[in-house]
Amino acid sequence: MISDLVRRTRSCRRFHEEHSISTETLRELVDLARLGASGGNKQPLKYLLSNERSMNGVVFPKLGWAGYLKEWKGPESGERPSAYIIILGDNDIRKSIRVDQGIAAQNILLGATGLGLAGCMIDTVDRDWLRKDLRIPDRFEILLVIALGKPKEKIVLESLGPDGDIRYWRDASGGHHVPKRSQEEIIVSLKP
Ligand SMILES: Cc1cc2nc3c(=O)[nH]c(=O)nc-3n(C[C@H](O)[C@H](O)[C@H](O)COP(=O)(O)O)c2cc1C
Repeated sequence: MISDLVRRTRSCRRFHEEHSISTETLRELVDLARLGASGGNKQPLKYLLSNERSMNGVVFPKLGWAGYLKEWKGPESGERPSAYIIILGDNDIRKSIRVDQGIAAQNILLGATGLGLAGCMIDTVDRDWLRKDLRIPDRFEILLVIALGKPKEKIVLESLGPDGDIRYWRDASGGHHVPKRSQEEIIVSLKP
């Protein structure tokens, strides 16, 4: 079960934008993040929710999409995310948060998959511009943006080719292919 959920939880970048995501659903996903592990159990993460056209329209232009797909400028209108969860670090609780946001983000994406949704963690964010437009107080560090929606793309996991290229790619019918390194490559065996 968990293996299937993890396999299906892919980074999705094209959505049925007309499918709205309720605040209740976003709160359900934030609850999965809330229950995740946190260094020193400090729980410094805070969450900004966006699921309305106007706020989504403010968030979207600050995001960078799929850096390896040079010809693609990101999702077109109609295929954009229906919602965002912006993960903030509360510097009054902890400075330099490094790992907590990854755990929170993955819990959110796993939860989204379970609800028939999908999303993408976005670190390529124009943080200054986003902070200014959303009036995010200095106390909060913008750590990660999670885009969410009803998935509109087919994503296929691939093995790495002989050239070892890790770049994802799109096929002629728009399917998105994601190479993953093999177990043999990633498990380090040392002889003590
Ligand atoms: C920390 C982190 C930052 C990421 N930032 C971006 C981003 O700015 N833009 C984007 O399109 N995808 C981003 N991604 C998604 C990765 O490109 C994606 O995880 C990778 O291509 C592998 O695909 P998969 O998630 O389906 O396994 C990010 C992922 C992680 C974990």
